[in-house]
Amino acid sequence: MSSTMIRRVGILTGGGDCPGLNAVIRAVAKTGMFRYKLEIFGIEDGYLGLIENRIHPLSVSDVSGILTVGGTILGASNKANPSQFKVLENGKWVEKDVTDQVLDNCRRHKLDALVIIGGDGTMIGASKLIDQGIKVVGVPKTIDNDLPGTEITFGHDTAVATGSDALDKIHTTASSHHRVMVVELMGRYAGWLALRSGLASGADVILIPEIPFSLDVVADACLRRSKHGKRFTLIAIGEGAHPAGGEMVVNHVDESSPEPIRLGGVAKYVAVEVEKRTGLESRAIVLGHVQRGGTPTAFDRVLATVLAHHATELLAAGRFGEMVVVRNGKIDSIPIKTIAGKIRTVEADDPLIRSARAVGTCFGDTIEEW
Ligand code: F6P
Repeated sequence: MSSTMIRRVGILTGGGDCPGLNAVIRAVAKTGMFRYKLEIFGIEDGYLGLIENRIHPLSVSDVSGILTVGGTILGASNKANPSQFKVLENGKWVEKDVTDQVLDNCRRHKLDALVIIGGDGTMIGASKLIDQGIKVVGVPKTIDNDLPGTEITFGHDTAVATGSDALDKIHTTASSHHRVMVVELMGRYAGWLALRSGLASGADVILIPEIPFSLDVVADACLRRSKHGKRFTLIAIGEGAHPAGGEMVVNHVDESSPEPIRLGGVAKYVAVEVEKRTGLESRAIVLGHVQRGGTPTAFDRVLATVLAHHATELLAAGRFGEMVVVRNGKIDSIPIKTIAGKIRTVEADDPLIRSARAVGTCFGDTIEEW
């Protein structure tokens, strides 16, 4: 289909929300309306609205004044994937493929293309829709920064700023009370959020899923600090971090979701074990969804706007099946198919890790001598 045939475009925000989603909605809608005379339709609650036919036209005033606002004016859901839609039957959650409903609703609203904003789960769904002939352009979002193909996702910078602000505050009370404070950050199976927040706040110990830790090493790092006259230790821990040979700590299993595992609780485990091993008073703090909320940083607003602009240019050029990315510091795009179902984790020799180790940060595997 040539660009001139694209007239009606649906936009949805899938997966967990994050700061900067509204900036993308605004930029896609305004660029589409002003420059390409597109009609833009908002789809409520991610794929759920596409399945349940909750789709409505967006006007310029609907998308004005939202650049700086956290969350998403469209609503989000991290449970609705059309090809793996969970429904309750006789008290049990079963998976159904409701892609036909999605195709019907796209036809009903005469949607020529979709802009799908989301993380790894949402891009798996986008890939399946592409197989069914739907024209899709993807925009990567997640506070976890774990999407492959892009060096950064919008929302991550804001979450790091929130994480770092919390760590700074906990630092002062840790120091006053001479405690070990273990602060748990989100990020699922990737450690970017804990790593960047910990690095920004000078956490003494950073524990991430990519580097399994030894409790003895962590305890030793806390005791050594005491020997150097440092009577407190600040530990930043990603929710997916786990001891070598051990398992991640699962908070709960949400059977209504196609990705049912919800992590959480590892900070408590580490605090209890460190206190046992060292005799130092230890506390656990879980930052939780505070990291997903709030107004996006200026960096995330800019990133969201330029990614959205590029996504709209792709639509207008008739280039579908692609997700916009940042590659070598430049805005680019890659086929959604090449990244769907994959995640990007922290490499052991990432410059962030090397820099942190160089200033004496312990990753729970070895003690840095100082
Ligand atoms: O993927 C974003 C994220 O916030 C993860 O960091 C976290 O593990 C998960 O979503 C939490 O999901 P929920 O909002 O369903 O608790």
